[in-house]
Amino acid sequence: MDIKLDREYLSGFVTEQDYADLLPRIEQAHEQLRDKTGAGAEFTGWIDLPEKTSDAFLQELEVMGEEVRSRSDCLLSIGIGGSYVGIHATLEFLIADQKLPVYYAGHNLSAGYLYHLLKQLQDKEITVVVISKSGTTTEPALAFRIVKAFMEKKYGPEELKKRIICVTDAEHGALRSIARKEGYRAFAINRDVGGRFSVLTAAGLVPLAISGVDIKGLVAGARVAQRHCSQMDLDTNISYQYAAARYILHQKGKEIEILSTFYQRLTLVEEWWKQLFGESEGKDGKGLFPTSLNFTMDLHSMGQLLQEGQRNMFETFLVVDESGFEMKIPGDPENLDNFNCVADKDLDYVNKQAYRATAMAHYEGGVPNMTIFVPRYDAFSLGQLYYFFEKAVAIKGYLLGVNPFNQPGVEAYKKKMFELLGRV
Ligand code: PA5
Repeated sequence: MDIKLDREYLSGFVTEQDYADLLPRIEQAHEQLRDKTGAGAEFTGWIDLPEKTSDAFLQELEVMGEEVRSRSDCLLSIGIGGSYVGIHATLEFLIADQKLPVYYAGHNLSAGYLYHLLKQLQDKEITVVVISKSGTTTEPALAFRIVKAFMEKKYGPEELKKRIICVTDAEHGALRSIARKEGYRAFAINRDVGGRFSVLTAAGLVPLAISGVDIKGLVAGARVAQRHCSQMDLDTNISYQYAAARYILHQKGKEIEILSTFYQRLTLVEEWWKQLFGESEGKDGKGLFPTSLNFTMDLHSMGQLLQEGQRNMFETFLVVDESGFEMKIPGDPENLDNFNCVADKDLDYVNKQAYRATAMAHYEGGVPNMTIFVPRYDAFSLGQLYYFFEKAVAIKGYLLGVNPFNQPGVEAYKKKMFELLGRV
C-alpha cells in the first residue's frame, strides 16, 4: 500500500491504551464484514469488487471508450450522488489523463445551469452517459428527459443508439425500461453495491473509460488496498487505524471531522468522502459530521475558527507527496516582498511548509489531526485511496452500531417532493 497515514498529532488525544481497549470490537467488526454477517450485509459487494472485476471487462470498457471518443467532442455524464461525485472527483484528480472533455448534468435541478450547458454543447458532437442505480432518481431522470429531447433534435434514432449509453440496474427501473425500448447500449451496476460505494462499478468505470482515464490502474490500486485492508492487524492496517482513531475521538466528544487538503485537485475527492461518510454514519441520531476545507484558501476564512473556536472537531489532512508539476519561484534582485528565501524553490515546497505549519498550529490549538499521504496524481494511488476510505467507514459504522450501507433518510425529502409534484 503506497498511501500512508500519519497519526503523530493525535498524541495526547488518542492513547495506545484507547486502541488496545477498542481492539476486540474492531476484530468483531472485521469478522462481520468478512463473513457478511453484519447489518446491511446484502450491500457489501464492494468489499471484494476490485479482485472480482475482470481484466476482460476493463478491456471491453477501454475499447468502447476509444470508439466513443473517435466520434465525440465531449461526454455528457448525467447522474447524482454516487452516480456523479466519484466520476467528477476522479476526473479532477486525473485531469492530466483526460482525453475527452466531460460535462455534468442531473446533479441539481437548476434550470440556469442546464440552459447554459446545453447552449455550450449545441455545436459539439456529444455522447451521453446516463447513470442511475435505481433508475428512478428525480434529478437525473428529468435532466435526461431534457437532454434526450435535445439529442433527438440533433441526431436521428439510429445515431442516438450509438450516442446514448445507460448505466443502471440489470433488470429493474425506468432507465432500464427506456434503454430496452429505445435500443440504447446499457451496462449494469452491481446490485450488492450501494451508490456511494459504486465508483469502481460500471457507474464510475463506464464514463471514466470514455474520458480516457486509466481504469485498469484505478482498479489495480483498489486491489492492492483490498489486500492491505483485509488484514486484521491494527499495527499495520491503516484503514483500521483511521477508523479506530475517528471512533475514539468521536467517543471523547469530537463531533466534526474536517477533511482538509492543500491540493486543489482533491477538493472533489473531499465531496466524494463527505457522501461516503455522511450517508454511512449519519443515522439513528448518530454519526460524526463530515465537512471539508480547501487550504490555503480557507485558512484565510475558516482558519480563525479552527485555531480558536469551539474544540469539538478534529482534522484529517489529504496531502499529495509528489505534486508532479514544476512551478519554480523566480528570484528577484529587488526582493521588495522579502521572499527571496524561497527563490528557485518549487511552489509545492511552500505548500508543504504551509501544511506542516497548519497541522502543528491546529494541534497546539487543541485540534487533533491526522494526515493521509497520497503518493502522486495517478489512477493507482486514487484507487487505493477510495478503497481505504470505503473499508474505514464500514468498520466505523459497525463500531458505532449503525447499518453503514443503507440511506433511509435520503428517501424522506423525495417522498415529500413527489407529494408536492403530484407524482404517483
Ligand atoms: O448512496 C446512495 O445510494 C444515493 O446517494 C445515490 O447515490 C443517489 O441518490 C443516486 O441514486 P441513483 O444512482 O439510484 O440515481
